[in-house]
Amino acid sequence: MSEMQNIQWFPGHMTKTKRQIQANLKLVDAVAEILDARIPVSSRNPDLNKLIQNKPKVILLNKCDMANQTATKMWIDYYKKQGVKAIAVDCKSGRGLNKFPQSVNEVMSEKINRLKSKGMKNPMMRIMIVGIPNVGKSSFINRVSRQNRARVEDRPGVTRGNQWFTISNNLEMLDTPGVLWPKFDDKIVGEHLAFTGAVKDQILDIELLAVRLLDFLKQLKPDDFIARFKLDKDELDSTDSYDLLKIIGKKRGMLVSGGEIDTERAAIMLLDEFRAAKLGRITVEMPYGELK
Ligand code: G4P
Repeated sequence: MSEMQNIQWFPGHMTKTKRQIQANLKLVDAVAEILDARIPVSSRNPDLNKLIQNKPKVILLNKCDMANQTATKMWIDYYKKQGVKAIAVDCKSGRGLNKFPQSVNEVMSEKINRLKSKGMKNPMMRIMIVGIPNVGKSSFINRVSRQNRARVEDRPGVTRGNQWFTISNNLEMLDTPGVLWPKFDDKIVGEHLAFTGAVKDQILDIELLAVRLLDFLKQLKPDDFIARFKLDKDELDSTDSYDLLKIIGKKRGMLVSGGEIDTERAAIMLLDEFRAAKLGRITVEMPYGELK
């Protein structure tokens, strides 16, 4: 796994990205961290809190249309208990985005009140978006900026060329997101990112990945998955995951010459359907689970 991730994040690239983010952080008051609601642990950047230091943060649990609703609520509650504001969003449809300005105001309330007490009528707050590749940063920015007029900023102290979107009467957002790296050295993190398609398939053993996904689905037993492949729920636990891949391939008529089952095609199909949420709205990582 670490080899795979090094392909995307060689050290020079990381240093450059980090520097860019640090420079942009100087321009903003708060950060919106986008996570994939299906894998809130693995889609985190391990160094973000260190990078942003004491800046207030809002977590956006994106792609909530594909995650289990109860699990998403549990995650929001989990963050709340830690004093972190999180909201569920779906940047494809725009659902949940109306809550964004209010959430930022909430985490910024201390600063806003301080500035107001000094006589500022309506202090303008600035925010930047951060997240690992494919979590939906561009989708978020496109959605929000479509609804809000873009304007070029040329106030002193602001890097030339930076563009800000007006989100509400006291909130502006930087147009360029901070692209962060995922956790490098954890095999499970790599697998979960691959389940959701956040990392490229060409560098992974697709059949092995499908078997690992089936290990998980066998335990969870989502109704849509069972119904879709007409599986016997009671036999799932005792079926080897590679055999299960063959059963699924056979049910879809994926055969190669000689009557053998085309397990590679079955693996691609299974992952595609999982990624499109056709096997159900499935959250892979739960709060208080084994992954922390
Ligand atoms: P990034 O900037 O963080 O790299 O991510 P980006 O917005 O490009 O989103 C990555 C993929 O995730 C895109 O799909 C995008 O449509 C999808 N996506 C983003 N937010 C959501 C969401 O809330 N729900 C769902 N279901 N999908 C979301 P793609 O296949 O790369 O492109 P396309 O299908 O949009 O053409």
